[in-house]
Amino acid sequence: MHAYEQYVDKVLIDEGTLQRRVGELGAEVSRDYAGCEDLLLVCVLRGGVLFLTDLMRRMTVPHEIDFMAVSSYGVGVRDSSGVVRILMDLRTNIEGRHVLIVEDIIDSGNTLDYILRMLRERRPAGLEVCALLSKPTRRQIDIPVRYLGFDIADEFVFGYGLDLDERWRNLPFVATVRSDYTES
Ligand code: IMP
Ligand code: MG
Repeated sequence: MHAYEQYVDKVLIDEGTLQRRVGELGAEVSRDYAGCEDLLLVCVLRGGVLFLTDLMRRMTVPHEIDFMAVSSYGVGVRDSSGVVRILMDLRTNIEGRHVLIVEDIIDSGNTLDYILRMLRERRPAGLEVCALLSKPTRRQIDIPVRYLGFDIADEFVFGYGLDLDERWRNLPFVATVRSDYTES
């Protein structure tokens, strides 16, 4: 038995399903940005990392990557505070460039709303969102999502970049957490 199994309620999206969908998204992005010479994927740390690295491997259009880190959750807190802090900004100047934000999950929408408003001020030529997961019933702010992997129900999930109290981001699938889970 692996240590993570005690926290898993059920595997919500298995590895094959995830990889197939990421492949479809990679193809879709590549088609839409065909001929684009200045595409920049902006990965939101830390949850978006696994999605980014798989997505870019499935893309055929040339692109650069950059990272930014934000925080909207305290450790162990399950609800977005609505207060977003920039922990690490981009190193790339995005003015006049086509930017695609790669995010793990959209919950309330507070985090992406903040990021979108901040990046829009820097006047990119294009600014779109690619999110692996979305919980539409939790949305407080409407977010224009150009590419979406899966809509999911209002359940806390972890794996494939998403953490359960900072662990288990390495799991190749997305799982729901057991209802009797308590933080260590
Ligand atoms: P939002 O600002 O409420 O949309 O929250 C977005 C951020 O909260 C995501 O980027 C995740 O880091 C985190 N988050 C939201 N739901 C989950 C979840 O079910 N598991 C792990 N992290 C989550
Ligand atoms: Mg995140």
